[in-house]
Amino acid sequence: MKFNALLLVGISAKSTHSFSYRALPAGTVNLSSSVERDVYTMADWAAGYGVQQAEGVQLTSYDGRDYFPMTQSYIPAGSPVMYVPSDLTFTSSKSMREFGASLSQCENQLIQANLQDKVPLFRIFFKIVAEYEKGEESPWYPWLNSLPRIYNTGASMSYACFDCLPPYAAYLALSERQNFVNFQKAIRNGPFSEEILKNVTVLKWAYNVALTRSIDMGGERVIAPLADMFNHGAETEVEISVDGNGDCYAYASVDIPAGSPLRVSYGDPTDPTPLFAKYGFLDESSPGTFCKLMHMRSEMEALGYTFANLLFYQENGGISPEVFDVVLYHVLLESDGGAADGFYRAVVGGDENTKAQYHDQYWPYTKEELQKHVDGTLRDLDRWSTKANSYDLNTHPRVPLILQHNAFVKETFLRVKANLDMM
Ligand SMILES: *[C@@H]1O[C@H](CO)[C@@H](O)[C@H](O)[C@H]1NC(C)=O
Ligand SMILES: *[C@@H]1O[C@H](CO)[C@@H](O)[C@H](O)[C@H]1NC(C)=O
Repeated sequence: MKFNALLLVGISAKSTHSFSYRALPAGTVNLSSSVERDVYTMADWAAGYGVQQAEGVQLTSYDGRDYFPMTQSYIPAGSPVMYVPSDLTFTSSKSMREFGASLSQCENQLIQANLQDKVPLFRIFFKIVAEYEKGEESPWYPWLNSLPRIYNTGASMSYACFDCLPPYAAYLALSERQNFVNFQKAIRNGPFSEEILKNVTVLKWAYNVALTRSIDMGGERVIAPLADMFNHGAETEVEISVDGNGDCYAYASVDIPAGSPLRVSYGDPTDPTPLFAKYGFLDESSPGTFCKLMHMRSEMEALGYTFANLLFYQENGGISPEVFDVVLYHVLLESDGGAADGFYRAVVGGDENTKAQYHDQYWPYTKEELQKHVDGTLRDLDRWSTKANSYDLNTHPRVPLILQHNAFVKETFLRVKANLDMM
């Protein structure tokens, strides 16, 4: 569909919100956690640069920290919701064109650390650091100054946080932190001042901005200011596309009633833990959670499954069939190598009859092993949450989110336990 910009109106933040322009001190964005986000100045700035949005769309906040677009008017499916011109967007390839050799040099470090797949994100990170360093001279200053200062991502968590999380969540969060450390090392060769290159607060903030606000468009990473404010939904109202020129278009993917939040998908909604580790929020509408069989990871991989296959379901305590396969394979490997081989061949060969026979024959063992795991995880969850509760909130501000995550997992595990005990 051709985008019809005429259906959009310029943003009029002034008419719907009262705010005044503050005379900002010269220099870089103040990253102190107590600074309030200046979101409405940013909306005005965006309008000045030609960002357009459908009538009725406006930024909203319930808590003064999280701001997101919602619509006060009905928007029919297929119609445009927002347009951000390429003058404002960050893309990985634009960064490469702008920074060339100095960027390539840093990227080589990442490639040596085996992080080729992080190169597009690194280019966005690099651009953010460059614009941050320019302070008020940066055309993006109002956008930078509107962004959150505090993040709950894995990259922002400490080892004390990881100690209070189930192993899979801790592993994902720790990977985010390691990515950040690698970015921090790689940018050391960049053309920035020592003050910036040595300042972990600045670099971590830039990493969190790049990670949480960019979208993947077929290998290219893109941030489109204002269109970066859509929240995640398991159900979505909006789809974003970016053309080769770097222009960004958001369309209504369904009929959107007046009064609705406008949400996009940040990733697979079936298990909330990967989104939790990456973005630092808990999607409680997720239907399930990884069954936490981290100690059976090699069995999972041998059978050709991923973490996303091994789910416990929130609503009814259901267990995905792959979980039973992995647990039985684990049981057989420990007790009867011949049977393990036979079962393995049935699973990878898709021989459902033979598979079912193994499951029938060994059901009491599978059940016992799974019960042991569920009961053990429930005890661990209580232990982790007790530990999190013992931390001082002033030094560990992410405790509430960790407790919320563990409570979500516990609730699911309790339902699975009830289900399993009756089987
Ligand atoms: C790092 O930058 C932040 C934000 O500008 C600043 O508040 C802090 O003092 C800096 N830290 C150091 C060690 O320079
Ligand atoms: C940054 O903001 C904090 C909180 O508003 C304030 O106390 C501090 O003086 C500011 N720093 C600078 C360098 O303006």
